[in-house]
Amino acid sequence: MDNKVLAPLVCGFLAVLSSVFVVRAEDPYLYYTWTVTYGTRSPLGVPQQVILINGQFPGPSLEVVTNNNIILNLINKLDQPFLLTWNGIKQRKNSWQDGVLGTNCPIPPNSNYTYKFQAKDQIGTFTYFPSTLFHKAAGGFGALNIYKRAPIPLPYPSPDGDFTLLIGDWYKTNHKVLQGSLDSGKSLPFPDGILINGQAKTSFTGDQGKTYRFRVSNVGLSTSFNFRIQGHVMKLVEVEGSHTIQNTYDSLDVHVGQSVAFLVTLNQAPKDYYIVASTRFSRNVLTATSFLHYSNSHTAASGTPPPAPRYGYHWSMLQARTYRWNLTANAARPNPQGSYHYGKVPVTKTIVLANSPAWINGKQRYAVNRVSYVNPDTPLKLADHFNIQGIFSESAIQIQPSDGPAFVATPVIPTSLHDFIEVVFQNTESTMQSWHLDGYDFWVVGYGSGPWTQAKRSTYNLVDALTRHTAQVYPKSWTAILVSLDNQGMWNLRSAIWERQYLGQQVYVKVWTSVHSLANEYNIPSNVLLCGKAVGRHP
Ligand SMILES: *[C@@H]1O[C@H](CO)[C@@H](O)[C@H](O)[C@H]1NC(C)=O
Ligand SMILES: *[C@@H]1O[C@H](CO)[C@@H](O)[C@H](O)[C@H]1NC(C)=O
Repeated sequence: MDNKVLAPLVCGFLAVLSSVFVVRAEDPYLYYTWTVTYGTRSPLGVPQQVILINGQFPGPSLEVVTNNNIILNLINKLDQPFLLTWNGIKQRKNSWQDGVLGTNCPIPPNSNYTYKFQAKDQIGTFTYFPSTLFHKAAGGFGALNIYKRAPIPLPYPSPDGDFTLLIGDWYKTNHKVLQGSLDSGKSLPFPDGILINGQAKTSFTGDQGKTYRFRVSNVGLSTSFNFRIQGHVMKLVEVEGSHTIQNTYDSLDVHVGQSVAFLVTLNQAPKDYYIVASTRFSRNVLTATSFLHYSNSHTAASGTPPPAPRYGYHWSMLQARTYRWNLTANAARPNPQGSYHYGKVPVTKTIVLANSPAWINGKQRYAVNRVSYVNPDTPLKLADHFNIQGIFSESAIQIQPSDGPAFVATPVIPTSLHDFIEVVFQNTESTMQSWHLDGYDFWVVGYGSGPWTQAKRSTYNLVDALTRHTAQVYPKSWTAILVSLDNQGMWNLRSAIWERQYLGQQVYVKVWTSVHSLANEYNIPSNVLLCGKAVGRHP
């Protein structure tokens, strides 16, 4: 939308000079109308209410090209307010369109909102999902695949086809019942199953000898999974928009909210092969078994489905350290990814965030540095824009862990545009964590066990760590990321584990400068929905 915003400013100038200058065509616009309804499906054999988009479960795949402008009118026919968020889309200068309750008013029932955003300078495998209430437990999610623009070469031969796999844990229980249980102060039970593309079992057909790109995302609520294909290796090529060193793997761990893309060559005898996703690090193991079907196969899959890795957290952490940036590969722009020497940029601020369970008024909640987030009735972004006081606090949360009881608040971490920050996620609990930051991707420079100290910096990968939008943190361990704060706005930093997010394990990061400029942030959209104390204001 750069061009759109700049157009009125420059067109007079260009009119004068148009005989001299060639004006670059504006990036293409794609228009969508999506209607959200309830429907009934039986993914685990029992009929249950699910959320459909245009009648589909999961929702339609958004298949776009880098820099396309997306104009998507979302019509809410549910009985509850609703929003979608675009997981991993950076929304440059445009947190107005992020689709979380801190940036947007939810779309009331029988109403609509038109999102306007650009897939600016991104290539890769992303998703979208509902951010409101506990809707994610009912579906409403889908794939968001961004293909390269014509002049940009991929660092691997174009695959013969794409398979998109949205994999996640699933409950047979209605989303309102699950939410009610959380509201009453109880944790969710272990999920009932794992679905691949909304089904317990499915199959993918390819031709012998050809190479396919598998785009695998964890769209679940709480559980990491391990993914593997009988008799085939997986060559990793992309992680959440980063082109990787192309290592081959027998199996890959994918944590909640994450996406990976890898190539699989159908170089085996023509038959069917098992595709397996099974929960990781869980006492009960849930398994989804599907099929890779060779188009010339007349033989059912046979033998033992490939087993899960024998080793747990340590194995997984070692695997995570092998995910590295291909420094000579192109990014979405035609310059090498590694031309930005992130390891040499001085860190301007270190933020250490410790997660913990919290019992507040006798109810289970979760906290970050002792603060358990609650959504106000007015989105933080709108409160900030209209200068409405008392909605959020820039002093509620400390940027280092401290001792003391947890409390509820609406904390914002203030930062300055062009800061370069180090964020350490310190997991004080014995369960897996997964942290997501909106508006950015970040370098995951280190994973380690035990408490983080400054001395751990000597273990960081400051050369070819990859950038991604969601990082896992192992039990009683830490994960360190570096973030270049080049995107002004109000950005959600949250647990991707949905019970935790819902019960307070999230904050907002305000990236701000006193210079008011469209080069830094777009204007409030003319169709903005207003709610809470922003009702009646004039955008
Ligand atoms: C709702 O949809 C109509 C078109 O049907 C559109 O003109 C309007 O801008 C949409 N509302 C919002 C808030 O985006
Ligand atoms: C890195 O990308 C280049 C293309 O720019 C490719 O030729 C090379 O094979 C890739 N290297 C690795 C190790 O994956």
